[in-house]
This record gives sequence, structure tokens and C-alpha cells, in this order.
Amino acid sequence: MHALVTGASGGLGQAFCNHLAAQGHDLVLVSRRTGQLERIAADARAKFGVDAVVLPADLSEEAARNELAAELGRRGIHVDVLVNNAGFGTIGELAMADVDRLNDEIGLNCGAVAHLSRLFLPGMLEQGSGSIINVASTAAFQPIPTMAVYAATKSFVLSFTQALWEETRSTPVRVTAICPGPTDTAFFDAAGDDKVLANRRTPDQVVASTFRALDRRQPSVTDGFVNAVQGHFAKVMPARIAVPVARLVVAPTKR
Ligand SMILES: NC(=O)c1ccc[n+]([C@@H]2O[C@H](COP(=O)([O-])OP(=O)(O)OC[C@H]3O[C@@H](n4cnc5c(N)ncnc54)[C@H](OP(=O)(O)O)[C@@H]3O)[C@@H](O)[C@H]2O)c1
Repeated sequence: MHALVTGASGGLGQAFCNHLAAQGHDLVLVSRRTGQLERIAADARAKFGVDAVVLPADLSEEAARNELAAELGRRGIHVDVLVNNAGFGTIGELAMADVDRLNDEIGLNCGAVAHLSRLFLPGMLEQGSGSIINVASTAAFQPIPTMAVYAATKSFVLSFTQALWEETRSTPVRVTAICPGPTDTAFFDAAGDDKVLANRRTPDQVVASTFRALDRRQPSVTDGFVNAVQGHFAKVMPARIAVPVARLVVAPTKR
């Protein structure tokens, strides 16, 4: 029985790997950077004595996801915990955005989450146990100008996960979405603007919130009290107020 963590090469994915390995889970680590994955896998083996398998893949591609499932099948590895964590954001006006990058963002943040859940859920149901953790974001709670596609992909993750939670409620499989706010990872670097939202939580705090929610069988949870309060207001405010406010928070100087 293995826990498959996507985006395991750093940030939240690495924190999920450490937590799961500390609980005694064997790991399957997936992302594109093989060297980073190997380093984290070696660490998990040495520190926690677990099996850790590295399978590099670009998960924005449907064929790569199918090949990942096929490879696990060939190796006789059963996925008991799936953490759909891999994702990235783009910052900037849509009119200026790179179309290929936007398609990759949608393919990874939405396509991989739905597809990998579809690939591994039947095995969990058959086995009579399993967990699916999908990493959404507080960006799911309101549209965000200059991060329009990213926020929409995270709304997809939250909506998809809550529906799946209900579909699996009467089964032993647990499903939850974690909505982190700004967290101290390479995310903003990758998005091209590391000065955005400086007040950040740690990956370990996000992981702790996730497993508390999973234990309580919550459909979703927001990490951190301040994020939860902000999220609540974003959800109840009319769009004509919430959307300009979101723009001011994310890109105060870019109008
Ligand atoms: N940090 C935040 O403030 C924050 C807030 C809310 C939600 N989130 C979400 O948290 C998740 C993890 O992000 P993070 O904060 O840990 O940022 P990160 O450090 O940039 O990690 C992103 C991970 O995704 C992987 N990845 C990117 N493109 C990929 C692809 N095409 N195929 C496979 N893996 C890919 C990266 O690995 P490789 O480069 O090796 O492929 C990396 O491991 C994301 O879904 C993000 O949207 C982050």
C-alpha cells in the first residue's frame, strides 16, 4: 500500500511526503524534477524506513497520467492514499498570457486532479479503504483578476472534491480538499512574482490542517484562522465588491 503524492519535489508535496512517511506509509513520488524527487525519496527511506518509488512525469499530459497508472500496475503497487498536490499559478492580465502555459495550468490543476482520482478511486473502493486529498486554495473562493485562470482552476478542484466527497460518503474511502492561503513555498517564484502576499503559513501547518479534516471526514477545510475568516467574507460578498478587492490584494500596483 503506497501513498502517491504529486508535486512531491518540494513545497507542500514534500511536506505531505514527510508526514505520510512518518506515519509509516510507503511513497510514490511524482513530478518532473527527478533529482529532487530522488533526494526526498532517499531521505524518507533513511529517516522512516519506508519504500519510496520515484516516477517522474509531466502530469499536465493525459498520456503521462495513463502511463503512471500502467507503470504502478506493472510493479504491483496499490495506491491507498492519493494526494493531488501538483499545481502552479500564472500571474498577469489574460490578454498577455502565454496560451500553452495556460493550457498546461488547466491540464495540471484540473485535468490531473479529476483523471488521477478516476484512475485510483476504483482500486480504493475495491480494497475497502483509501484517501484522496486534493489541494485547492483560498483562490477558489472568489475570482482573482490577474490570476483569473488559476483561481478558476482552484474553484474546479474545490467543487469537484466536494462532489466526490458526497459520492464516496457511504464508502470507507475518505475525500477532502485543503484550501491553503499564502504558504511559504516556491509557488510565487514559479508564478513569476515572489512579492505577492508576504504573510505566509508553513507547509507543515497546511498538512496538519489537511489530516485533521480527513480524520473528521470534512469535505473541505481552509488552512488557518485568518484565511478561514477572509474566505468566509469572500464567499458572502457580492462579486462586484469581492472581485475588485481580490485584485487590490493580489496586485495592488498593477492596474
Ligand atoms: N504556496 C501557496 O501559497 C499555495 C496556496 C494555495 C494553494 N497552493 C497549491 O499547493 C500546491 C503545491 O504548490 P506549492 O505551494 O508547494 O508550490 P511549489 O513549491 O511550486 O510546488 C509545485 C509542485 O508541482 C509540481 N509540478 C509543477 N508542474 C508539474 C507538472 N507539469 N507535472 C508534474 N508536477 C508538476 C512541481 O514539481 P516539478 O517542478 O518537479 O514538476 C512541484 O513539486 C499547488 O496545487 C498550489 O496551487 C499553494
